[in-house]
Amino acid sequence: MNVIKPLFQELLKNKRLSHINDLHILTDELDYRSIDQVFPLFAEQQFFLDELQHQKVQNAEVLEIGLGSGVLSISAARAGAKHVTALEINPRAKNFAGFNFVLNGVEDKITVLDGQQDLWKPVEGRKFDYIISNPPFEPSPPTMDYFYHSASGPYGLDFLDSFLLDLDKHLTDEGHTEIVTAVPGDKEGPNLLLDLIEKHLSGTAKVLVNPYSMTFDELMDRLAGKEMGEVKDIDALREMAKKDGVTHFYLCVIHYHKGKKSTTVMPSEKTYSEYWDVPVKEYLIK
Ligand SMILES: C[S@@+](CC[C@H](N)C(=O)[O-])C[C@H]1O[C@@H](n2cnc3c(N)ncnc32)[C@H](O)[C@@H]1O
Repeated sequence: MNVIKPLFQELLKNKRLSHINDLHILTDELDYRSIDQVFPLFAEQQFFLDELQHQKVQNAEVLEIGLGSGVLSISAARAGAKHVTALEINPRAKNFAGFNFVLNGVEDKITVLDGQQDLWKPVEGRKFDYIISNPPFEPSPPTMDYFYHSASGPYGLDFLDSFLLDLDKHLTDEGHTEIVTAVPGDKEGPNLLLDLIEKHLSGTAKVLVNPYSMTFDELMDRLAGKEMGEVKDIDALREMAKKDGVTHFYLCVIHYHKGKKSTTVMPSEKTYSEYWDVPVKEYLIK
């Protein structure tokens, strides 16, 4: 014990070990400002875990695109998945995820493959029973040098667009998809997400919307506060949003399966009121 505690304290210096449900997950700190940051845990991961369909995960072949620290894949493995295949483009995230697999006792249940810009290419021709993702979703001006995990085009929808485009091809007939994401919309709701669902999906979608939303302007202020982009580019994005009638930003979970084409939108059971810049739980070891 004398040896272990200082060893862990040294190891965890400048990193964050979070406790979420029954999982222990190592990530970077919030202020790790580099393109290869391993995403800390926030309300979005809690929302995903709260919505995990345990019965459907049982014995399922699971796919995650965008592994990060591994938190979602680990939760699926712990919930009884037969096997999890996870794709990631950030080498540093893959290293953290490997550590987290061992820490949570699921190292024999998850295979990590290199992600590619062409999202589905690494699993071409394969189908899965439970597909999960927390896609990069931060609206980011084109000139902004931003994190791997976050940047996804001006409205943060580029990754999700490619993801939904080929989702049906990779989902088994009885399969289920669970996505947690944040999306722009107007004051009524996440209309840009609903447009994408309408465009790409032929089955049954249920969108759970967190009742707490932020305005698009607040989101842009937050981006400006990170000092990672030119103020003029962020302002240009604000202007574009104004013209397009984009005023709000919503945290959502999407459940999807094959079947009759329909989309239902409803509020989430819980309200997640602090979604960014606040850790889900206190540090475990400091
Ligand atoms: C919002 S983070 C989510 C990470 C983790 N699943 C979580 O919930 O904390 C999105 C992740 O997608 C990864 N990513 C981005 N583009 C990718 C791609 N083309 N293929 C696979 N992963 C990708 C990022 O590096 C990042 O780790």
